[in-house]
Amino acid sequence: MKTLKWLKAATVCAALILTLGTIASAAIGGELEIFSWWAGDEGPALEALIELYESKYPEVTVINATVTGGSGVNAKAVLKTRMLGGDPPDAFQVHAGQELIGTWVVAQRMEDLTWLFEEEGWFEVFPDDLFDLLSTEEGIWSVPVNIHRSNVLYFIPENLERWGVEAPSTWDEFLEIAPKLMNQGVIPMSLGENWTATHLWESVALSELGPDKYGDLWNGELSWTSPEVVGVWELFGEILEYTNPDAPSLSWQQATDMIVEGQAAFNIMGDWASGYLSVTLNVQPVTGYGWAASPGTEGMFMALSDLPVGSPNRDNTIAWLKTIGGLDGQDSFNPLKGSISARIDSDLTKYDLYLQSAASDYQTGQIVGSLAHGVVANERFMNDFATVMDIFLANKDARAAANAAHIVAIQSGMTK
Ligand code: GAL
Repeated sequence: MKTLKWLKAATVCAALILTLGTIASAAIGGELEIFSWWAGDEGPALEALIELYESKYPEVTVINATVTGGSGVNAKAVLKTRMLGGDPPDAFQVHAGQELIGTWVVAQRMEDLTWLFEEEGWFEVFPDDLFDLLSTEEGIWSVPVNIHRSNVLYFIPENLERWGVEAPSTWDEFLEIAPKLMNQGVIPMSLGENWTATHLWESVALSELGPDKYGDLWNGELSWTSPEVVGVWELFGEILEYTNPDAPSLSWQQATDMIVEGQAAFNIMGDWASGYLSVTLNVQPVTGYGWAASPGTEGMFMALSDLPVGSPNRDNTIAWLKTIGGLDGQDSFNPLKGSISARIDSDLTKYDLYLQSAASDYQTGQIVGSLAHGVVANERFMNDFATVMDIFLANKDARAAANAAHIVAIQSGMTK
């Protein structure tokens, strides 16, 4: 097995759920249920992948079961109930990293896919360090469908020009231009529901701590109560002063809409927003929207990866995993999804200008893992951190948030 040296973030992957009892090797046919949160605006990429699968395996009826809600906030709860209730879907979406390993692999719900990687020649086509997120010493637990970047700042260049500001490359610059935007009736930074606040928080943390100390937060070497981390909460609190008051009731798409509609200047979101902008809103990179690394994170790539996992109709699921991991699968899914291929041999001419730049940044950047999207923390931590975030959004008490996160890290087994 490849050596593990990842501490990165985002993609989509697939793994097999370990079913109890014997897994009969049936012929392809019958059904394949795919469970994810890629509904509505998030659906086109998955639909393209399903179409490809159906063209290869017309005997299989695909059930596209989605539970809407960005970053899987609702889907993950439904999945948990189904998994624990003995009713797993054939394939499910999960994030590479701790969300997969620290949740479903430790619970022994997954099947080792090393044989599939060998059979399909995937050791040669997925980057070495991606294996860190998919593997333990015991095996490889899922198939990556993409790599997302989370630390992206979006804006509409034409609007910035009109308002007389430029995209900030540091948080100091942001705090300097924010009052200027407010004076013009513009929200400096649009924000959505709770998980998007955590998404913003991780970019602020990366900028303030730098990649090494950010990593130390997850390996237990940097205390949540250290002055640096309290400082992250303080800065985050200052930034929140420049966000929209109705954030808790907005989806990530609605927060993106705010920059397109000229109500807000900036939004920090993963690059699925690039898919939403170009595919759903028909606002194209460079000509319609601009982007940069979130302030203070130039040269860093906060990554995550989505994976599907499956089981009751095992042969159909294996065929699904082969489709996902295959070159045509990756190149039909990712250009629509707003993510880069997890494979190193993809045809970049099929990807738009934003994604070409993300692919190049992925090659050269320092890779770290996303918190909001399951790479660095297990489900227990993420659930409890959402509560810490809720309280902070209400009281802006940096020290209390740092103390509470420290306790959550201990309780979830992420630090001693
Ligand atoms: C992420 C996921 C992305 C996208 C996003 C918004 O967690 O990795 O693929 O779906 O949530 O829902």
